[in-house]
Amino acid sequence: MKTVDRRKFIEFIGVIGVGTAVTGLAGCKNPTQTAKTAQIPAFRLKGLNASAKDELLLTEGFNSEVLIRFGDRIADRETFGFNNDYIAFLPNENKPNSGMMWVNHEAIDPKFVSGRTIADEPSKEQVDKELYNVGGTFVHITLKGDKWQIDQDHPNNRRLSGHSPMSFLWSEQIGGESPIGTLANCAGGVTPWGTVLTCEENFQDCFGDRKRGEQDIVEGYYRWNRIYNRPPEHYGWVVEVDPSSNAGKKLVALGRCAHECATVNQLDDGRLVIYTGDDKENECLYKFVSCEPNSLEHGTLYVANIDAGIWIPIDWERQDVLKDNFKDQTEVLTFLREAAALVGGSKLDRPEDIEIDPISGDVFVALTKNKSRGNFFGSILKINEKGSYDGPTFVSESFLTGGEQTGFACPDNLVFDQNGNLWFTSDISNSSLNVDPYKAFGNNGLFLAPRTGEQAGEVIKIASAPMDAEFTGPCFSADQRSLFLSVQHPGASSSDDLTELSSTWPDGGIPKPSVVVITGENLERFTQKNTATQE
Ligand code: FEO
Ligand code: CA
Ligand code: CA
Repeated sequence: MKTVDRRKFIEFIGVIGVGTAVTGLAGCKNPTQTAKTAQIPAFRLKGLNASAKDELLLTEGFNSEVLIRFGDRIADRETFGFNNDYIAFLPNENKPNSGMMWVNHEAIDPKFVSGRTIADEPSKEQVDKELYNVGGTFVHITLKGDKWQIDQDHPNNRRLSGHSPMSFLWSEQIGGESPIGTLANCAGGVTPWGTVLTCEENFQDCFGDRKRGEQDIVEGYYRWNRIYNRPPEHYGWVVEVDPSSNAGKKLVALGRCAHECATVNQLDDGRLVIYTGDDKENECLYKFVSCEPNSLEHGTLYVANIDAGIWIPIDWERQDVLKDNFKDQTEVLTFLREAAALVGGSKLDRPEDIEIDPISGDVFVALTKNKSRGNFFGSILKINEKGSYDGPTFVSESFLTGGEQTGFACPDNLVFDQNGNLWFTSDISNSSLNVDPYKAFGNNGLFLAPRTGEQAGEVIKIASAPMDAEFTGPCFSADQRSLFLSVQHPGASSSDDLTELSSTWPDGGIPKPSVVVITGENLERFTQKNTATQE
């Protein structure tokens, strides 16, 4: 049985950073590794109590600084978009304290972006602004002294937005034409060849959606279809973007749903395994296994049946039930939810972010909540792939359950540090914050589940978000002395005319979604290598 060489792994993430480390777990085919874990010296970190303050609060030994805000200039006529989410840091090979950062822009709030209320009929100018502020940002950043800064006008700084040219990586066009734009970009992943996968999640809010075989579109929340006639089937994909290009590729083989994330693992033979969740109550967990090394064009998409511990192929050629109901694999992938239900995918409690534990190789899935089942607080699921990431069977168990006893509710984004400590964020929706049944939790937070040491098994609240906000996209710098973190939708419940602001974070005025950098001695206490105790 082959095990991961831990030293090799640590050296590897020392170069590229743990935000992309699972991506590069080359050779990590066996989830039952036996390497010793680093020991955290005896120390107790006091977690924050629940807070409803409009501040970014941190527990002792942590600091934060805003790196970039909504509207900040990144290049000539290019600005940072709205509601930043997933962050990927791509360190420069020889200077890992600088590199390209990709940040998703998940959604817009019209009152902050275009000055309309959601009830207003949108003008073309307003829709153009709104389309510009979704998608993502590539921006070069550098650590100068002890402060990260954005490098304005770096030649690779660019915005990809709802206006950018896109294509399908597939043998035929979906909807008969090339897609325009990427939107609803939630979480994502990084490929071994240095591109970013950005996931289109709640696409139905934008150009609406329709049932298979129907022409009529159920209009989306933003009503962008009033200005641009775009097929809903152009959205809901995992999109591959490149720091050196304004275009993107929609990866049809990974299917169409409310993709939360695309967590990449590379097998020994170069093929890729990608895990992705469909973030909706009673929707499914998927994994894609590519046919060929270093390619995402073709492969098999599987859906998880958790009770049976099996990955079921969603393959028109191999499933009679799909042949009976769909005309071909393109239609199966375009209406993935319907196909997944037909083949027996488990209905889960909103599968969101997914990460692979760098120590054990287990796959962790945040299940945010499911009100339809009376599950208000969510959990984190642990999957053991039983020796083979591309294999058909697995075992699973609940790793952590939300609730007052553990002090968190609605887990969403996950990231492991190099010592295998799990850092995660919560997403209690802003309308539910600080009211029952979420009153005890206060504002959303960043939490730490230490792997070793005195507090192993505990959950510690590291940070508390400003009013209405959630933390998203946690991503470590290459040396893991900095944690990049998105602060999304502060002040979302402000009045439409902005005369009553529910948050004034970060500058004391109109609230602005921003990326912050978290540093500090107690961050390093957990994230830094303890060579004395490592094998
Ligand atoms: Fe965009 Fe499911 O969070
Ligand atoms: Ca999320
Ligand atoms: Ca993550």
